[in-house]
Amino acid sequence: MLEVEDLVVRYGQATALDGVGLRVERGEMVALVGPNGAGKTTLLNTISGLIPPAAGRYRLEGRLAQVPEGRQLFAGMTVEDNLRLGAWRVRDRDCRRIYDLFPQLGPLRRRLAGTLSGGEQQMVAVGRALMAQPDLLAVDELSLGLAPLVVDALAEHLVRLNRETGMAILLVEQNARLALELCPRAYVLEAGRIAASGSSEELSRTAAVRAAYLGGAADEAAATGIGS
Ligand SMILES: Nc1ncnc2c1ncn2[C@@H]1O[C@H](COP(=O)(O)OP(=O)(O)OP(=O)(O)O)[C@@H](O)[C@H]1O
Ligand SMILES: [Mg+2]
Repeated sequence: MLEVEDLVVRYGQATALDGVGLRVERGEMVALVGPNGAGKTTLLNTISGLIPPAAGRYRLEGRLAQVPEGRQLFAGMTVEDNLRLGAWRVRDRDCRRIYDLFPQLGPLRRRLAGTLSGGEQQMVAVGRALMAQPDLLAVDELSLGLAPLVVDALAEHLVRLNRETGMAILLVEQNARLALELCPRAYVLEAGRIAASGSSEELSRTAAVRAAYLGGAADEAAATGIGS
């Protein structure tokens, strides 16, 4: 579905991605975790065609839609108009299936997006991406600034969509615990390079990942023989 090979992206003199490789298979849910400035958003923006790579390549089968970091809604436009903007590449502009998915949004359809709560705005951002009927949904920081219960509800929707429609998902998250829980497979990006990858279960048992991302003590994990 998505194959990224030896990808290099530079902003002027600064190298943001330095030989990144990554795959997402059809119907898969894959997590991409890593600290601030690791290059996660840069990777998504590159596969979305917003940034030309300096070297390497990516191959994408089908349609990609991105839920951008910080949601990027048009605050002065209604919920419904924001949703319809997502459908600019497809014929079907009917928002009903989004309201079926997120029943909370139906009554808000005439509200200006800027007046919604953070969680409601994230629903609109996800809904807008879904309006493009993507084969791969890339979500940049689902949980950013949202209460845990709101995040759980959104995450549940994503998992259900993945199961029911086979839409693949690439989930970029600061909250590694959440991402590793939701996605069977994951990549760890650090300073523009893939530092680790594999099954989320194995990754969350490795000492380095526990220490850096899960708030676990590396020493303790090593001492008890858990981890790599
Ligand atoms: N438009 C830009 N111009 C110059 N440098 C940039 C630009 N966008 C990002 N960078 C730099 O590239 C690096 C990677 O940034 P990126 O936004 O991809 O990281 P990230 O992993 O998404 O971080 P975060 O978790 O904070 O969202 C950072 O050092 C950042 O300062
Ligand atoms: Mg980012």
